[in-house]
Amino acid sequence: MPDTEPTPFDQMGGAAFFTSLVHHFYAGVATDPVLRPMYPETDLEPAERRLRLFLTQYWGGPTTYGDERGHPRLRLRHAPFAIDDDARDHWVAHMRSALDETMREQSLDPAWEQQLWRYLVGAAIAMVNTDPPASADSPRADTSPPTSAATDSPTTIATIQETPR
Ligand code: HEM
Repeated sequence: MPDTEPTPFDQMGGAAFFTSLVHHFYAGVATDPVLRPMYPETDLEPAERRLRLFLTQYWGGPTTYGDERGHPRLRLRHAPFAIDDDARDHWVAHMRSALDETMREQSLDPAWEQQLWRYLVGAAIAMVNTDPPASADSPRADTSPPTSAATDSPTTIATIQETPR
């Protein structure tokens, strides 16, 4: 009998699940005209590994990401890239396809799917770092944290995105 509770990472399917999810995601990024030019390295494999290790750690798996990279500080690490609503939508669309593809290969409890998806969409929204044009200011209430203007502060976002469970 295991002496610890299975983590969300374990319950979602562990390394096999996250490897597949992020691999499918990057296959999409590789051919995306908006996202691909944003990635500084020619080889996408190191970026794929960083995202896989980050998500692994976030959902309670091994903490290799933190051992290698320290605190995620995701908003800060994304600051060099101009992420607008269009880039966010491309990111989310590739992640949706990757999740669907992975679920064709492996089973995932619908409750975990829902939690994971909510997290990914919320995190993608939080990563937008360009001012939207006034006319295109989209409502974000359904995915933003419930309270007030303070939700746009990097500190609050960091807490939402990066606290391992
Ligand atoms: C919203 C659209 C997004 C875009 C356009 C974007 C783009 C990028 C780019 C260009 C990099 C640099 C590649 C690298 O060096 O790894 C990166 C890194 C990374 N991204 Fe994103 N990203 C987005 C959203 C997200 C979200 C929602 C998450 C988490 C759920 C995330 C997690 C990461 C991680 C963990 C890294 C590596 C950070 C490190 O240097 O340790 N990204 N992203």
